[in-house]
Amino acid sequence: MSDQQRGPSTRAVHAGLPPAEQGTPLTPGPVLAAPFHLQGAKDAAPYGYGRDGNPTWTAVEQAIGELDGGETVLFGAGMAAVCAVLEPALGPGDVLVVVEDGYPGVRGVARDRLAPRGVEVRFVPTDTEAIVAACEGATLAWIETPSNPALDVADIAAVAGAVHAQGGRLAVDNTLATPLGQRPLDLGADAAMLSATKALSGHSDLVLGAVSVRDPEWAARLRAHRSQGGAIAGPFEAWMLHRSLATLALRLERQSANALALARWLRERPEVLDVRHPGLADHPHHAIAVRQMQSFGPLVGFTLDGAERAQRFLAGLELVAEATSFGGVHSTAERRARWGTDAVADGFIRFSAGCEDLADLQADLAQALEEG
Ligand SMILES: Cc1ncc(COP(=O)(O)O)c(C=O)c1O
Repeated sequence: MSDQQRGPSTRAVHAGLPPAEQGTPLTPGPVLAAPFHLQGAKDAAPYGYGRDGNPTWTAVEQAIGELDGGETVLFGAGMAAVCAVLEPALGPGDVLVVVEDGYPGVRGVARDRLAPRGVEVRFVPTDTEAIVAACEGATLAWIETPSNPALDVADIAAVAGAVHAQGGRLAVDNTLATPLGQRPLDLGADAAMLSATKALSGHSDLVLGAVSVRDPEWAARLRAHRSQGGAIAGPFEAWMLHRSLATLALRLERQSANALALARWLRERPEVLDVRHPGLADHPHHAIAVRQMQSFGPLVGFTLDGAERAQRFLAGLELVAEATSFGGVHSTAERRARWGTDAVADGFIRFSAGCEDLADLQADLAQALEEG
C-alpha cells in the first residue's frame, strides 16, 4: 500500500520518519548545528552550513510534503513563506490577484512592498466568480480558503483553471484547513502555503511557515531565497513541529467537530446575531467546501451586538482565552475588529475551537453570553 492510500492519522503519525535501521532512534531528535563537517568540495556532504540546510528541517519538510503531495520548504514564519512566494515571482508590470478578506499581513506585503515596485495589485473578495473575473492577465493569484476571519470559500480548481489559462500561477494559503483538511496541490494550485504556527503545530508554542510546490525548480528558488534572506527555522522549533504533526489528525478531528457543533449551538442563542462556518448547510459556499475539504477546521465566526457587548463576553470567558492566532489545542477567541484590518462588524468574534470537551466549551460560552 502506498503512503497516499493510507488514512490521515497513519500518514500524520508516520510522515517524514526515517527508515527502520538497527540501533537508530524511532524519532530522531533535533540537530543543533551551525557548521557541519565538510571536507573538500562545497557539495561533498548534504549539509554544510545551518542557514542552507539542516537534517531536522529535511525531516519535517518530508513530512509536510507527504501530507501536501509536493516538495516542501520550511521557513522561520508563515510570513517568510508568503514573501518567498510573492516577492521573487512578481516584478514591474506583473499582475497579482489577492483576496481582500485573507490574512492582513499578505495584503500588507502586496500594498507596501509589491505595488511600489510596479506590480499591479487587484484586491478581490473570496468569491469564485469575482476571483476568476479578476484573473485576466494575472501573473499570480493568491487566495486563502476558507478565508479568515469571514470564512468564505473559493473553488480552488476553478480559480486554478482561470489563472492557468492566463499563463499565471495559483498560490493557496491553506493555514486554516491544514493538508489533512484540504489538499490545494491536488486541486490544481501551484503552491500551498502554511502558517505552521496555527493548527499544523497546534500547541501555540512556536512560529514557523512552509510552502509546498510540485515544480522542483520553484522549490530550488524558494530554498535559495531562504538562504539569501535568512528567514530560517530554528532546528528545535522544526523538531517540535514534526513531533506535533503526529497528532494532527486527532487534534483536527476534535477541533473541527467542536467548531461545527458550537456553530450549530450558537445560532440557536438569542444573544448571537449571525454565525459563520463553512460546515453550516446554509453557508453560501457550503457546497464548494463539501466538495474540496476533508474537514472544515477549527474556526467559527459569530457576531454580538457591538464592540462593548463583545468585549464583555470575552472578559466573561473562564476556560477560553482571549488571544489572537488560532488552531491550538486550547480554545481562544478575540474581537477581530480590534485590529482595524478586517471588514467585519465591531461585535464579530473569531472563535478557535480547541480540543476541550464540547460540554465544557458550551458551558463557558453560555455563562459568558448570559453574564454579558
Ligand atoms: C491565514 C494566515 N496566513 C499567514 C499567517 C502568517 O503566519 P505567521 O504568523 O506564522 O508568520 C497567518 C498568521 O496569523 C495566518 O493566519
